[in-house]
Amino acid sequence: MAQASYHFPRGFLWGTATSSHQVEGHNPPNNWTAWEQEKGRILHDHKSGLACDWWGGRWREDLDRAADSGQNTHRLSLEWSRIQPAPDRWDEAALDRYREIMRGMFERSLLPMVTLQHFTLPLWLAEQGGWENERIVDDFAAYARKVVEALKEYVTMWVTINEPNVVMASAYLFGDFPPGKKDLGAAMTAGRNMLRAHAAAYHAIHKIQPQARVGVAMNYRGFAPARSWSPLDRWAARTQSLMFNDLFPRAVQKGKIYLPVGFQRIPEVAGTQDFIGVNYYTRDQVAFNLFKPGELFARRFFLPGADLSDTGFIANVPQGMFDALKWALQFEVPIIITENGVEDADDDLRPRYLLQHLHQVWRAVNFNWPIKGYYHWSLVDNFEWERGWTQRFGLWELDVETQARRKRPSADLYAEICRENGITSEMVERYAPEVMSSLFPD
Ligand code: GAL
Repeated sequence: MAQASYHFPRGFLWGTATSSHQVEGHNPPNNWTAWEQEKGRILHDHKSGLACDWWGGRWREDLDRAADSGQNTHRLSLEWSRIQPAPDRWDEAALDRYREIMRGMFERSLLPMVTLQHFTLPLWLAEQGGWENERIVDDFAAYARKVVEALKEYVTMWVTINEPNVVMASAYLFGDFPPGKKDLGAAMTAGRNMLRAHAAAYHAIHKIQPQARVGVAMNYRGFAPARSWSPLDRWAARTQSLMFNDLFPRAVQKGKIYLPVGFQRIPEVAGTQDFIGVNYYTRDQVAFNLFKPGELFARRFFLPGADLSDTGFIANVPQGMFDALKWALQFEVPIIITENGVEDADDDLRPRYLLQHLHQVWRAVNFNWPIKGYYHWSLVDNFEWERGWTQRFGLWELDVETQARRKRPSADLYAEICRENGITSEMVERYAPEVMSSLFPD
């Protein structure tokens, strides 16, 4: 068959994403290291431990892997608890280390995208109430100033907070993340403080670095009514989407927190995003359930027969990527896919997941939607939060005991995609022939 291809615009960003707590190892006192010590909080009581040993220097070999396989950017996060170990103390040596890593990225022609806060909070801050205490707003702005002063010669692409909506849900509604609350009021307070902290950091960064591009990485999840004819299921799906997907970025855009009924003003955050980061993994079916008030009357599940990941955490729904990008358009800023990937230890699903999702990104790009880049989660297997080491998202496999890395076939596939700046029928034939007829129909 003749070779066909789907190409991306020139200068498209191709990278992978990681986060400090998940890869650095020897993590200092933060709310997650403390959480890992509590029995039963993490699956099998796994610990982040040495993680991928980036703090010990293995960032070099992993970023070599990224660069050698054609990636032109990398997204990582800074560990606030290293940089500010106590309220009145900055650790200059930690900042030097991050500067060295940024220099290392430039030496490898990897453009850095830096997240200031990816789930972890210094323990001293968590003990003061974390996101529930409005003092965090000033603390976050001071931390942003410190970091931007230190790294400004290398970094202009900043994500303030990773997935504030996941933190609202997992830390304050479902209780899976520290501080383990199930309290809608606490979730709303945390959300409000995250909005204000984001806005304060946005202004702090721009003051030091007017040319900076600053955004939030949102987790977009698809919510489809289980029975499309049912007004109750439709209401439940809409409410999930409103509270989980829309609330935060709409507030950042408009300065108003839209609730199922009415809205609250928060004018100081309006217009504080230069791009929107979209993390897309999967889509849920939603059925109305009167007995789940704590989950906004929704029962969520994957379609029967869905193409599931190893532990059933992710259903492969590529159309949801297109929906996510369409959703992101409403914010009228450039869009960057800051995370997308799947847990798949033996790499039998990842090749088709990757190709099918990138095909949807390509479709969106062809509507001239302003999509600037794609970051695959993740470069190497890493510590997956409350799921510990049970889920393997890496293009490279990690042996947690020996620190040995082994390349999965998807790493080669992604390298070919990055180098080609697109996907070809020949790649699909070699890596995921089972989706050939849907991606490249005759
Ligand atoms: C995201 C999160 C990442 C990673 C990923 C896969 O929600 O930002 O840190 O854990 O999920 O589970």
